[in-house]
Amino acid sequence: MAEDSQDTPRDGTTHFGFETVAEEEKAGRVQGVFTSVASRYDLMNDVMSAGIHRIWKDAMMDWLAPRPGQTLLDVAGGTGDIAFRFLDRAGYGHATVLDLTESMLVEGRSRAEAEKMGGALDWVVGDAMALPFENNSFDVYTISFGIRNVTRPEDALAEAFRVLRPGGRLMVLEFSQLPNPLMQKPMTFTPSM
Ligand SMILES: C[S@@+](CC[C@H](N)C(=O)[O-])C[C@H]1O[C@@H](n2cnc3c(N)ncnc32)[C@H](O)[C@@H]1O
Repeated sequence: MAEDSQDTPRDGTTHFGFETVAEEEKAGRVQGVFTSVASRYDLMNDVMSAGIHRIWKDAMMDWLAPRPGQTLLDVAGGTGDIAFRFLDRAGYGHATVLDLTESMLVEGRSRAEAEKMGGALDWVVGDAMALPFENNSFDVYTISFGIRNVTRPEDALAEAFRVLRPGGRLMVLEFSQLPNPLMQKPMTFTPSM
C-alpha cells in the first residue's frame, strides 16, 4: 500500500507509482496490478498494514454512522471491505461495489457468499470516472484507498455528486503526506497498491 501522486500533471500524462505514464495507459496498468494480486489482496493488506487498515475502515464507518435502509455505492470497492462493514452497521440496506478490476470483485463475491450476505450486495465492473448509474441513485458514496488510482480524480468526484441523492454523503479514505518523513517512509515502500 502506498502513496501514488500528489500533483496531477496537466499535459496528458499522469502518475503511476513513481512513473509518469500517458493518461490512457494508467487504467490498464492499475487493472494489471490488481488482477495479479486479487487472490492475495486481503492477506497482503493485513500484512503490509499490520492490520491497521481495519482500524481505519472501522473509523470511517464511525464517521459515516450508516442508517437502516440506506443505499451505498462503494467505488474502487475491491473485495468489499467497506460494503461489508456498511451493511453490518446499517442492519439492513443495500450496497453496490464497483471496481475496474473484475478479479477483485470475484474475490469479494466469494466472501459475501461465504458470509451469506450476497442478497444485499451488487458487484459491478466499471470506472469511477463514468459510473453506469442514474442521477440521484445512492444515499452514500465511499471510496477507500482508491482515489489515488483514478486517472482524473476530479472526474470521479463529479460522478460521485451526480449519482448521490440530495443530502447524500461522500466519504473518501486515503493516505496523505505525513509531516514527519520517517513516518512517511513505510507508506511508500510499494508504489502501486
Ligand atoms: C487499493 S485497492 C482498494 C480496495 C478497497 N477499496 C479497500 O479499501 O480495500 C484499489 C482498487 O481501486 C480499483 N480502481 C482503480 N482505478 C479505478 C477506477 N478508475 N474505477 C474503479 N475502480 C478503480 C482497483 O481495481 C482496486 O481494486
